[in-house]
Amino acid sequence: MHHLTRRELLQAAAAATLSGSLGCKKSSNGITIGLYLSLTGDKADFGISTRNGINIALDELNAAGGVLGQRVRVVAEDTRGDSNEAASAVTRLIDRERVCGIIGEVASTLSLAGGRICQRRGIPMISPSSTNPAVTQIGDCVFRVCFLDPFQGEVMARFAKNSLHVSRVAIFKDQGSAYSTGLADAFRTAFTALGGQVVDTQSYRETDTHFSAQISSMLSHQPEALFVPGYYAQLALIAREVRGAGFQGRMLGGDGWSSNTLTQNDDDKLVGDFYSEGFAPEGATTPVAQRFVQKYREKYRIEPNGLAALGYDAALVMFDSIRRAGSADPAQIKRAIAATRGVNGATGTISLNAQRDAVKSAVILEVRENSVRYRETVNPT
Ligand code: PHE
Repeated sequence: MHHLTRRELLQAAAAATLSGSLGCKKSSNGITIGLYLSLTGDKADFGISTRNGINIALDELNAAGGVLGQRVRVVAEDTRGDSNEAASAVTRLIDRERVCGIIGEVASTLSLAGGRICQRRGIPMISPSSTNPAVTQIGDCVFRVCFLDPFQGEVMARFAKNSLHVSRVAIFKDQGSAYSTGLADAFRTAFTALGGQVVDTQSYRETDTHFSAQISSMLSHQPEALFVPGYYAQLALIAREVRGAGFQGRMLGGDGWSSNTLTQNDDDKLVGDFYSEGFAPEGATTPVAQRFVQKYREKYRIEPNGLAALGYDAALVMFDSIRRAGSADPAQIKRAIAATRGVNGATGTISLNAQRDAVKSAVILEVRENSVRYRETVNPT
């Protein structure tokens, strides 16, 4: 029989310590899940609403005794809306907090940055609301619970053509955002397939504050509507200039418009304009969705939007997967997330397909003064 030398024993002990430290924290103070979200900066509203939704799911879970007999702890790191910060936030969560799963980010460009690290380190990540197809294409550790931009682009193209009877559209996209450029392409493909015409396409950068050159180019082509697949902070500035230039047609966008600040300004620059997103309280017909809406209103005194509902749903899928895994081991949780079928969330029933994506409905919303009006729900075919 082979006797281990002192050297081999030391190596074995070191390996055991190392693999122990690579596992996730599961101790008397509970199981730790990491969040990386923009909690400050010009996308702060994304992270705050998402975290609010996650907190509702966490309260429910811990009130019911947690999972695997343990309380769940959630640690949030702020990405400040920046890709480099997103990457270091994920690294901190893995190395310092020893999380066994990660929820985040909202903006697709930031989920791409954080997702690559999750994939490299073997920690499962669920994005609540990143809609660009490339996010889950990173690899088998990256999942999402929202719809994808090819669907969202088609929803808005159909709405423009068939409901608004618009046939000439100009597109104004954020060239540094994977989400914006991808959704612009998706809209163009669907709109032209329906016989519409994209009369001009212009770009801006996230840091721009003036858009007059691009706006005059677009308006010179006499569009009936503008498709602006961007985020709310830039949208507010763009809309003011577009209306200032005298444009009377409709402005259209995607889920990036969603924010609690969209209707908080007293000017009416976006009133009558439309965007798509993943959830609206008025479209919430299931008991799970109605209970979520009620709890959210009670806790935060505002209406939940798509960000909040998808945050809630990402947390439900994470917790349910830990339960089904029967373990806090990241590799086993990853396999359980991949096997998610029929989880009843606020945004509908969530089943993840072989691409680690959910197939979900969209709602179309109309901006009103101080509110948004639910227009319709569009189901995937
Ligand atoms: N879908 C957007 C993206 O991928 C993020 C977003 C989702 C923003 C929902 C607002 C509401 O970047």
